[in-house]
Amino acid sequence: MFKLLSISIKIACILLVGCIHSSVVEASNSGDSNQVELCISADPNKKATPSIRVPRPFWLPSWMSWTWTETKCTNGDMKRSAIVYVPNGLEEGTNVPLVMNIHALGANANLQQIFTGFDKTADDNKFIVVYPEGFSKARMWTRYPAPPGVPLYSFNAGGCCSDKPIDDIGFLRKLIEYMEDNYSIDSERIYAMGMSNGGFMTNRVACEMSDVIAAAAPVAGVLFESYSLKTPHPMGWTKADDFVCAPENRIPILHIHNKMDKTVPFDGSQDFGFPSVSESIGKWRKLNNVKDTGKVDKKNSITECTLYSEPVEGKDDDFATVELCVINSYEARGHCWPGQAGQGAFLQCLNDDVNNTYIWQFFTQHKRDEGKVKAEFFANERDERKAKAGKTVFGGEEL
Ligand SMILES: *[C@@H]1O[C@H](CO)[C@@H](O)[C@H](O)[C@H]1NC(C)=O
Ligand SMILES: *[C@@H]1O[C@H](CO)[C@@H](O)[C@H](O)[C@H]1NC(C)=O
Repeated sequence: MFKLLSISIKIACILLVGCIHSSVVEASNSGDSNQVELCISADPNKKATPSIRVPRPFWLPSWMSWTWTETKCTNGDMKRSAIVYVPNGLEEGTNVPLVMNIHALGANANLQQIFTGFDKTADDNKFIVVYPEGFSKARMWTRYPAPPGVPLYSFNAGGCCSDKPIDDIGFLRKLIEYMEDNYSIDSERIYAMGMSNGGFMTNRVACEMSDVIAAAAPVAGVLFESYSLKTPHPMGWTKADDFVCAPENRIPILHIHNKMDKTVPFDGSQDFGFPSVSESIGKWRKLNNVKDTGKVDKKNSITECTLYSEPVEGKDDDFATVELCVINSYEARGHCWPGQAGQGAFLQCLNDDVNNTYIWQFFTQHKRDEGKVKAEFFANERDERKAKAGKTVFGGEEL
């Protein structure tokens, strides 16, 4: 009964959204969930700093101060936020892995936390999760952006899904740097994953943050470097921020996609210009120096995974695996989270093998052997990207 009630409250929240803006909905976990608000400078060498609390306005009586939680940034810095989940019982002085779990279009950090149930995976396996929040107001089912104050966002993953070329890669780099400075993170075991727009973004992170992460697991999102249709994009994302995927290091990829997905269709979408899953996987095989012939390593009535792990000639020392898991489940029109661990039961695919445990086991097989986030590399890479893309928007201004 309580479970039912709690699920209906969550459904109501997802539909009405208003109830999740200022407070983090309690996910069923035992650790600590905190919202961080950071000021991100346009200067790539300046670290993220926590935003400062805005004093209560004089006209607001003190007994109403509980309604006042606003923080701000100065110097034209951009305010960005994320939810950090730290499980209980981490051993002091031990560095643990970090998973960055990126939300979908028209969602936010808290919804991703509830929807994927990854806090529980962190509890069971002792790692930290950070759920970054997008910046652009999501353009949803119409051509118009979400109304002001509605906490539904998107990430600029290149061809999808931002109406401005916001520097989200810059934000994610500084967020991870902040996590490394403030928590005991094993910098060789930082991973990226995400759903839908977050899956597109996970692909972009694998392309542009291969000096930071050790492996990436996009769900229902493809590598989408440029929006190429001549017609205006139906959601207004036209030419948000084209990029070229040219990672410095090989990043192992686990791509999970539902064959029945109606939102990010398996075979691509003419309307939105989305490439197909096989195009996206083909690109990764090339980028990762593995052969096009894979082997089925897991198969049952709902799921089939194919692993591409054989290096091409002469690349035995410079390759990474690509794995594609295809699910057949019609929940949520096929646009669902794999496995049934999340708490948004109505958005879960009905398979039970390729799930959070599977994603985590994939991550644990991979480790990066180089040190920390490199500010210098960040600066150079961003200059290159700026040169390539022409311009980047930072906090509403063009750089
Ligand atoms: C996080 O680390 C930064 C240094 O990069 C420091 O300025 C900041 O105060 C730390 N924040 C917290 C909450 O400890
Ligand atoms: C994932 O699936 C495996 C195999 O069915 C199962 O043992 C495991 O408990 C599942 N994990 C979660 C988080 O549901």
